[in-house]
Amino acid sequence: MDLALRHTIHQNSERAQDLYALEKDLRQLLKGKLEKRSEISALNLACGRADETGILAQILGEKTKQGHIQGLDLRRTEIHGASNLWKPVLENDEHGITCDFRVGRGDQLEQFQELADPDLVFIRHQNYWFDHQAWVKLYDQALLKLRDDGVMVITSYFDEEHEMARQVLENLGAVEVAHRFNPQARRVKDSPEVEKSVDRHISVFVKA
Ligand SMILES: C[S@@+](CC[C@H](N)C(=O)[O-])C[C@H]1O[C@@H](n2cnc3c(N)ncnc32)[C@H](O)[C@@H]1O
Repeated sequence: MDLALRHTIHQNSERAQDLYALEKDLRQLLKGKLEKRSEISALNLACGRADETGILAQILGEKTKQGHIQGLDLRRTEIHGASNLWKPVLENDEHGITCDFRVGRGDQLEQFQELADPDLVFIRHQNYWFDHQAWVKLYDQALLKLRDDGVMVITSYFDEEHEMARQVLENLGAVEVAHRFNPQARRVKDSPEVEKSVDRHISVFVKA
C-alpha cells in the first residue's frame, strides 16, 4: 500500500497527520517485537472507524508474510464504514494482511471463540474512563485471549485515563515494556477542563 493511500485515504489532513505520528511511534515501540512469525493475528478492540487499519497493515506486513486484523466495536455504523473502506484496500494490497470487522462487545470476548488468539491486541483511545466495570472486563478478556508471547498496545487521550488503564492492566498481570508520551500530539478540544490529545500516550504491555 503506498504511503499516501494509507494516510490520506480519509482526505482529512489533520487525521492524516495523526496517523503519520502514530505510525512513527508504533514502528519505534514495536521494534524487535512480533518478529520471526510466519503469521500475525491482530485484534483491534473497540476500533470504532478503525482509521489506523492501513498503518497497522503496513507495520505488520513488514514483520510477516501473512496476517489478519480483526476489528471489533459496539458501534454498527462505524464497523460497517470500516469494513467497506478497508476490506477492499487490503484485499488488493501486496502485503498479505487481510482484515475483517464485526459488531460486538469486547467485554464479552468469550462469545467469539472462533476468533484466533491474537499476537497483537491493539486498543486506540481506550475508554476506561467511560465505564470502569466494562473496561476492566474487556482488558481481562483481552489478556486471556492474547497469546503468551503476544503484545498489547493501548493509546489514550489523556493522562489520568492512561494511568488508570495502566493500573488495571498491571493488576491483571500485564507488564508495561514500552511507553511514549507525545507532547506534540494534536489537541482535542471537546473537554476544555482536561488536556486531551490524539494518541497522547501509547503503552506496550506483555503478559507477566
Ligand atoms: C474513544 S473511542 C475510540 C475509537 C477508536 N479506537 C478511535 O481511536 O477512534 C472508544 C470506542 O470504544 C468502543 N467501546 C466502548 N465499550 C466497548 C465494549 N465494551 N466493547 C467494544 N467496544 C467498545 C466505543 O464504541 C468506541 O468506538
